Amino acid sequence: MNPVDPLSPPRPTALAQEILRPLIRPGDLVIDATAGNGYDTVFLAECVGPTGKVLAFDVQEAALASARARVGETRCVEFFHESHGKMADHAAGESVAVVMFNLGYLPGDDHQLTTQSAETLVALEAAVRLIKLGGALSVICYPGHPAGAAEAEAVERWLTAQAADGWRIARYGAVGTRRPAPFLLLAGKGS
Ligand SMILES: C[S@@+](CC[C@H](N)C(=O)[O-])C[C@H]1O[C@@H](n2cnc3c(N)ncnc32)[C@H](O)[C@@H]1O
Repeated sequence: MNPVDPLSPPRPTALAQEILRPLIRPGDLVIDATAGNGYDTVFLAECVGPTGKVLAFDVQEAALASARARVGETRCVEFFHESHGKMADHAAGESVAVVMFNLGYLPGDDHQLTTQSAETLVALEAAVRLIKLGGALSVICYPGHPAGAAEAEAVERWLTAQAADGWRIARYGAVGTRRPAPFLLLAGKGS
């Protein structure tokens, strides 16, 4: 990764991809828990290659249509018009290399159709059971508006508690901003 420029720190979305990239091998099974416009889906598909598999979830048909268009012909991606809370129905325990969450709403779309704390925690509980040794999960939180702040706090508290079960947890984000800045949480399953 390039040295970090303090005048232009990396966006959490880019940082998540750079940190997770070395953990993903061709042929791996990975999950995009919030497909949205498909940027992370494309990233994950490139990492796992044609022999791997990306499971991509979103509750909005408009998001899935956008993500499908961005992904194109890549056959390693399977989309689910379903909540990420159901991800355990589609993968075996300890079989997944990486799970990515990007919380909030689809940029430019209906802001009411946002991720919900309670369901996000259900999905995170599923994700930690699906991830294999050496794998990781990322969550980008948006505390800049009230519902997002409450969700960010709940997610950070829940994820931090997983350290007692051997997960290594980190938090990355700008401080001193006018409004609370988006931040990235990472949880790694070490040996
Ligand atoms: C910030 S956007 C994701 C952006 C995406 N990662 C990308 O690269 O373009 C958040 C997405 O989460 C979706 N979402 C909300 N609740 C969800 C749920 N329970 N399960 C899956 N997706 C959900 C929204 O529909 C929205 O598309």
